[in-house]
Amino acid sequence: MIIILSVIIVLLLIYQYVWPKKKYWEGRGMPTYKIKMFLSMTNVVHEMGDVYKKMKVEGQRVAGLYLTWENILLFTDLRSLENCAIVQNKRYEDKRNAQQLFDVILNSATNLIVALQESSKSDKQIDFCDVSTRYSTEMMISLAFGNEFLKVTKLCSKIREMSLRAGAFSLKTVVKQFVIDWFPQFAKRFRMSAYDSTAHKFYMKTVQEAIEYRKQSTTLRHDFLQSLLDAENDDGEKTQMTIEEIAEQVMSFFVSGVETSAVTISYSLIEIKRNLNVESKLRGEVCTILEKYNYTLHYNALEEMIYLDAVIRESLRMYPPIPILRKKTSEAFLVDNIEIEKGTPLAVSILAIQRDAEKYIEPDVFNPDRLEGNIDLDIERQHLILQSKIALALILWNFDYEIDDKTKYPLKIDAPNGILIPTEKIWVKFSPLITSL
Ligand code: HEM
Repeated sequence: MIIILSVIIVLLLIYQYVWPKKKYWEGRGMPTYKIKMFLSMTNVVHEMGDVYKKMKVEGQRVAGLYLTWENILLFTDLRSLENCAIVQNKRYEDKRNAQQLFDVILNSATNLIVALQESSKSDKQIDFCDVSTRYSTEMMISLAFGNEFLKVTKLCSKIREMSLRAGAFSLKTVVKQFVIDWFPQFAKRFRMSAYDSTAHKFYMKTVQEAIEYRKQSTTLRHDFLQSLLDAENDDGEKTQMTIEEIAEQVMSFFVSGVETSAVTISYSLIEIKRNLNVESKLRGEVCTILEKYNYTLHYNALEEMIYLDAVIRESLRMYPPIPILRKKTSEAFLVDNIEIEKGTPLAVSILAIQRDAEKYIEPDVFNPDRLEGNIDLDIERQHLILQSKIALALILWNFDYEIDDKTKYPLKIDAPNGILIPTEKIWVKFSPLITSL
């Protein structure tokens, strides 16, 4: 009975709210493109890429799409996109400076090297994405709660499972998102979250435990949790965030940070090996700089590795870990004389833009030289790739490696949880180098 009633309610809602919107873009004279209904992020990434290509062929700078119940805008022209104001989520920054972040990350990276040394003793290949995700999770736990908490709770595998779960697409999360988008007051009243509820509960519990643990010790901490506990509003006054708000921020921190960094390291590793000239130039840079710094990886040494920087940014160009950005306009504006309402959702297909032959010569070719010396990342973004840089510098310094033939190339990529991951395993065999740290 409940199921029948729910189905009737959903059909009524669709009839009442969704159906009339189906002619929204045509009514405004906006070119529209069809995109299939879906229940997975995967199709959206590929379908949006196809629409982007069609738009380019037909010379459209902007078009309206119908994505489930949303009328969204897709741009191919970045200048038109720059003209519209968008709503930014409030995001709490990690307040540590680069050196402090470096120290925490180096500690986790050393564990990664020990794990690879262990694996190199046998003749087996390892699933590198699995190892890099483990490293990335451990590092994010240290950044969020401190090293000590990691030792106390042995959280690693649970956090990995829950980060994947939190961002996963399911019928339940789609229905919840529908309610949040269409009945925001109701969703707010019942504190609905678009995240998976099991993951939500897990993060609430973990945050509560971490705060309790913190109360029992007098150590002054500089981690992400502490920056949330000390959060200030725009006028510099301290704001008391609720446990729920803190848990949401921590969950977003893990969902956004774990897989993104792990896949960046994996994509870079495979592309370096497939391009032997890149590998030898990069090894040359890492060796020369580490020798200069007495074989120790200091923060300053890492800063001097500008080719490594270009390698990682080229890998981020070819495989952007977050392939689609979703935003909302914060003001009404005109595009090609068509009025776009305030609050209109828009999507930016980073993957399609970064593989666009008009923007990059031979976009499917991995060529870090095209970015060398062109350091356009601000400090905050530099911090985000710090863990990929540290891991790759240490791997190249300590090991030679082979990608096993059973790893297919070009890599098949998909975004089942919104993060662009290789769909098949990347098998790597590591052999220690005599120059090891
Ligand atoms: C290669 C690594 C990374 C890439 C390419 C990357 C990329 C991105 C992108 C494109 C966004 C969306 C920004 C927007 O909507 O305007 C984002 C959001 C975010 N990232 Fe990263 N990121 C990386 C690593 C990290 C790391 C290491 C952390 C944490 C230490 C982190 C924390 C976050 C957070 C908290 C958000 C906001 C999520 C939200 O609004 O719900 N990211 N990242």
